[in-house]
Amino acid sequence: MTNTFKGPDALKDFLNPEKHPNLPMVELPASLNPFAADGVRIFAKMMGLSPLGNVKAVPAFNMVREMYLRGELEGVERLVENSSGNTVFSMALAARQFGVERTQSYVPSEISWNKLLMLQFFGIEPIVNVEPQAPAENDPATGVFKARQDGQQPDAMNPGQYENSDNPEAHEKWTGPQIWEQTEGKIDIFGVGLGTTGTLIGNARFLKSKNSAIKVVGVMRAPDNYVPGVRTENLLNVVDFGWREHVDTLVGVETETAYLTSMEMSRLGILAGPSSGLALAGLLKHLENLKESGELEAFRRADSGEITCVFPCPDGPMAYLDEYFKYIDASHFPAITNEDVLVNKP
Ligand SMILES: Cc1ncc(COP(=O)(O)O)c(C=O)c1O
Repeated sequence: MTNTFKGPDALKDFLNPEKHPNLPMVELPASLNPFAADGVRIFAKMMGLSPLGNVKAVPAFNMVREMYLRGELEGVERLVENSSGNTVFSMALAARQFGVERTQSYVPSEISWNKLLMLQFFGIEPIVNVEPQAPAENDPATGVFKARQDGQQPDAMNPGQYENSDNPEAHEKWTGPQIWEQTEGKIDIFGVGLGTTGTLIGNARFLKSKNSAIKVVGVMRAPDNYVPGVRTENLLNVVDFGWREHVDTLVGVETETAYLTSMEMSRLGILAGPSSGLALAGLLKHLENLKESGELEAFRRADSGEITCVFPCPDGPMAYLDEYFKYIDASHFPAITNEDVLVNKP
């Protein structure tokens, strides 16, 4: 495969996950894996190393293409979606290849300034929404509800990433098979952050269909903690997929731990954003619990003596740089020598 995209469909193919080789998977070094000496191997699945740089490129392309193939985009002039940034970004760029130029997005008021600039840079129209902290199902104050309402206008379409089965199905047909192939069918534990839960459901369905003994750890934000792209247990109420049946264990992770863990990975060359840190930290918490209770041994493979874990890294750290300095203690950053003579200071 020369990895060249040309001809009239070059851009459409470039954005199509099925036209690319497997996204890389990389094993964590022992410095990031406290269970290395226990025979636990942990692999980061780099979902951000695709043309659009984030996990949502996979479901967004699938949702847009399937809407197009069903004829649902005829007469549609704008997409409207609720998104922390990545979905709508990926969706807008895919939609332009299928004839829809405009995309509007409800974004949470906590969104980082950098992400807002990013949306504007890509020509996406942000609508800031103050999200309720503990929304009921179908709560009209949520961006999810508002996007669904707007999408009923004749010129608009709401792809509905929280209820659209083409979201989890994208991971079932593309991501899960890659993980299975890349681990040579030896994956034992899958740890995954929960946003729309599409990554969870698609991968869990595929991987468990191959080996029902595989266990899935769903990682959420701890209550009142912020990590972009993933939700607290309360905020998961707005997600319509029956995601709980796909999870064997639920773990909560705090903001600072998620940011710190992702910075540690990034400093070693695994460019991983805050929700990647959350997924790894949640997986490590679970492994610690298994070790303490003696249950870890049940996962050990008789032939190799090893236990294989995989967690997806949904994107990289660069879009969140300002947030790292907000949530991580200053002692973790090198000092700037001669800071006083800087011309451009924030
Ligand atoms: C950065 C980031 N991490 C994690 C997720 C969660 O993935 P999913 O929606 O498949 O649960 C998202 C989803 O938007 C995301 O943008």
